Amino acid sequence: METFVVEKSNRKVEVLPDLEALSHRAAAIFVNTSRISIATKKRFAAAISGGSTPRRLYTLLGSETYRDQVDWQRAHFFWADERCVPKEDEASNFRTAFDTLLSRVALPEKNIHRIKGEEAPDKAAMDYEEEIRRFFGESERPGFDLVILGVGEDGHTASLFPGSKLLEETVRSVLPVYLEEPSKNRITLTLPVLNNADQILFLVAGSSKAAVLSEILGNGGGKKGSPAGLVRPVHGTITWLIDQEAAVKLGRL
Ligand code: 6PG
Repeated sequence: METFVVEKSNRKVEVLPDLEALSHRAAAIFVNTSRISIATKKRFAAAISGGSTPRRLYTLLGSETYRDQVDWQRAHFFWADERCVPKEDEASNFRTAFDTLLSRVALPEKNIHRIKGEEAPDKAAMDYEEEIRRFFGESERPGFDLVILGVGEDGHTASLFPGSKLLEETVRSVLPVYLEEPSKNRITLTLPVLNNADQILFLVAGSSKAAVLSEILGNGGGKKGSPAGLVRPVHGTITWLIDQEAAVKLGRL
């Protein structure tokens, strides 16, 4: 099955045959974006997500195929969100990235800007906001070179869930997310920071995502209430990499 691409203003949708093809395409975009950022800013700042879909991408970037294509000395890793668990925990987004990528490349430890999921959510969010402010500077709204996001079946992205008051946040860059089960609490970047990125890359795979994707991308996009549909970069671009299974309900884009 061919790959097909639909580009409209700053939004690009690429449908690829499967997760493997999608992950290689994402790796190529990661490498290319890192080179452009390092060439222009002497550094590359990426915010990455957890969940299952990006694992193959991280594994590829840490593999012989791609690891020598990135100047890891100038690459900085942040997270779009984290679960409120210790970094050794299986549910930790940091651990996912560390096991599959960060521990396999020559990345200086100081370039890893982890959300401390083991701390009290409020403190972890404040500390992370401070870390981001130190990195991007006081005055500026943080502007990541690349943000990698996923979409839940309910339309959530990062840890911004449908109906959440956090979707209305206009000032804070990082907020705690209190969920019914405290063990499921999270820390998340807010929409103003996500939408200030130079490049946003959504990775979406599997038939379970088809319904929510057709809501978000079909009919002109951004159905009210789906947080992923509210991710609209103010000056950057957004690329949706979708596999064939997830694209089945996408009508004309
Ligand atoms: C997380 C993520 C979350 C994820 C979606 C999709 O911490 O879980 O950041 O927003 O991207 O839940 O997850 P899958 O890729 O597992 O479908």
